[in-house]
Amino acid sequence: MSWNPEQYLKFAGPRLQPALDLMARLPADLAAPLAVDLGCGTGSATLRLAERWPQAEVIGVDDSADMLARAAPACSRVRWVQGHLGHWRVPSPAGLIFSNAALHWLPDHVTLFPTLLSQLAPGGVLAVQMPRNFGAPSHQLIHATALDGPWRARLAPLVTPPPVGEPRWYIEQLAPHVTALDVWETEYQQVLTGPDPVKEYTKGTWLMRFLQALPPDEAAAFEADYAARVRAAYPPLADGRTLFPFRRLFIVAVR
Ligand SMILES: C[S@@+](CC[C@H](N)C(=O)[O-])C[C@H]1O[C@@H](n2cnc3c(N)ncnc32)[C@H](O)[C@@H]1O
Repeated sequence: MSWNPEQYLKFAGPRLQPALDLMARLPADLAAPLAVDLGCGTGSATLRLAERWPQAEVIGVDDSADMLARAAPACSRVRWVQGHLGHWRVPSPAGLIFSNAALHWLPDHVTLFPTLLSQLAPGGVLAVQMPRNFGAPSHQLIHATALDGPWRARLAPLVTPPPVGEPRWYIEQLAPHVTALDVWETEYQQVLTGPDPVKEYTKGTWLMRFLQALPPDEAAAFEADYAARVRAAYPPLADGRTLFPFRRLFIVAVR
């Protein structure tokens, strides 16, 4: 799947806010000689990590050359690495492994989370935010549209169960392996502007892989069909803007 930094950053503010909220919950005295941002994308959160730990070695990892190309000019102090999160490993035990809105793209969290914890130094922190909006109309209508059109045969394999589990699941998986654990959810009441803002929002992330699985004319028809459905599901507020509630799961685990 190829990422489009311009489309992603159309909603840069609402997308960055969870990263800032996650950072605010990190232990105030956390020493992080090495801080890693997994799935750093265009680097908005990575830059904040570099500011908070000015002496640290900071590494941003992502497998999208397009996203990294947008990130790299913003901060020469960060080491930007192109790599797959399923294979990449820290060069030495990390004080902080941070990941905002990326780990839901990886399968097998049963294996992934212990592997990440094992790369922390003692006292190091794993801090993760993942969307958990897969039951909302924004995401359910992607699946409904995929299964209800001439594209069905091609898109049905993409209609898969939600990639992120319940908070309870992460607590049960992680608690035995950490000295402190904080798990919570926030449903952001995002107020968006512009035409078809919910469709434009998902087009920067979850909708992409459906569009990219189709030839251009069919992708355009699919996008228009989904846009009409999602427009009806998120009617405008009295002032013409659109309320798009979005639930996110947060994890701060101390090794
Ligand atoms: C929604 S963006 C989040 C970017 C950034 N963390 C932020 O908060 O703006 C998800 C990022 O994860 C990256 N990503 C997804 N799966 C990946 C994988 N398996 N390996 C490396 N990067 C991955 C994508 O390339 C994309 O840049």
